[in-house]
Amino acid sequence: QIGRCGDELGVKVFVVGGFVRDLLLDLPNLDLDIVVEGDGIAFAEHYARQHQCRVRAHQKFGTAVIVLPDEFKVDVASTRVEFYLEPAALPTVENASIKLDLYRRDFTINTLAISLNGERFGEIHDFFGGLRDLRQKAIRVLHNLSFVEDPTRVFRAVRFEQRLEFHIGKQTEHLIRSAVRMGFLERLGGPRLLSELQHILEEEHPYPAIERLSQLDLLKFLHPSLDLPVDCEDLFDRATRSLNWFDLLYTEESCQRWLVYLLCLVTRLDDDAMQGLCDRLSIPGRYRSLLADERHRAHGVLKGMRRRWRQARRKPRNSDLYVWFEGFSIETLLYLMARIETEDVRRWVSLYVTRLRDEKSWIDGEDLKKMGIPPGPQYKEILRRVLLARLDGKATTREEEIA
Ligand code: CTP
Repeated sequence: QIGRCGDELGVKVFVVGGFVRDLLLDLPNLDLDIVVEGDGIAFAEHYARQHQCRVRAHQKFGTAVIVLPDEFKVDVASTRVEFYLEPAALPTVENASIKLDLYRRDFTINTLAISLNGERFGEIHDFFGGLRDLRQKAIRVLHNLSFVEDPTRVFRAVRFEQRLEFHIGKQTEHLIRSAVRMGFLERLGGPRLLSELQHILEEEHPYPAIERLSQLDLLKFLHPSLDLPVDCEDLFDRATRSLNWFDLLYTEESCQRWLVYLLCLVTRLDDDAMQGLCDRLSIPGRYRSLLADERHRAHGVLKGMRRRWRQARRKPRNSDLYVWFEGFSIETLLYLMARIETEDVRRWVSLYVTRLRDEKSWIDGEDLKKMGIPPGPQYKEILRRVLLARLDGKATTREEEIA
């Protein structure tokens, strides 16, 4: 249908980039990137009129997103060359042909295009050796200035290398090391750096990429004192198991996997360094309290739990668990599970997640009023104490709670 629409408008249409790469590698990919040799926005609007879709256009970049009735999205771009006015700046856009459009991309394996027009449907265009590099399992840039133009590509190279189980080509690795040495990555803005880190930490198994970042001396751009903790692989492994455990049990409740892995990565940083990392990455306010105050409190709780286990070797009261973990986000709780090596102690956290955290006292403010207690802020504390007593088995019915 996309090709037919191109035929009607007399423009050549291609599917390009990650979709083609993954198609040839037989991997799933639902992100369809279309490039139109001509006006991509006019194309998207024509397609949308015929197929009852919505279009969101960005005139400035000559791009559009077609939103299909089932919310599936197709990105449409006009062929263009991007001029980077200075390293690490946003590109300026001008019209050009498909080959030039592909030339501005990051790696050869992402420069493959497939024609969608009538008779040429399915024809592969390989201008820069992408097919060879797919066969050789190599991540290679197209030209020597690639990382200078866009330093985020350093992180992308590592992410693709580890995800696809490819290797970064020799010359490309040399260019990465030069970019690191020459400090190009320091010019990267916090939000772009965060976004790349987030993409890496959202991979199914992020540890190998983290190890590779460390090997290429890239972790220091997140914070000068950040290196790979000695037991980092085991920590990430336990984090994966905790996350998978949670996903299986709570299909409706979402959890930000990248935050759990980030907490693991920075586990040895002290509070000041953590603050510095949050500033460098321009971490948004909503995550800051989790990464600063909550993390600080969690480390205190962790110490307390270890002490308790050494001294008593048995489960604390439910009310203790409740008080320790109360108010923690699910990300912090799963991070705690990852930090604990002892199975028995880990169960204290999982018990809180599965049973205790959603508990409320059976009685409420109305009951307290009926008992003649004057309403006020003390209600919250009374109900909390009632709940803590019940969690320890001191009440098994509503009546016992009232008593
Ligand atoms: N691209 C680039 N430089 C960047 C980011 C993106 O050249 N810094 C190009 C790549 O060629 C890529 C395309 O833009 O194929 C689309 O980007 P993105 O959706 O991030 O890449 P995918 O290859 O689809 O990656 P993923 O599979 O992770 O979605």
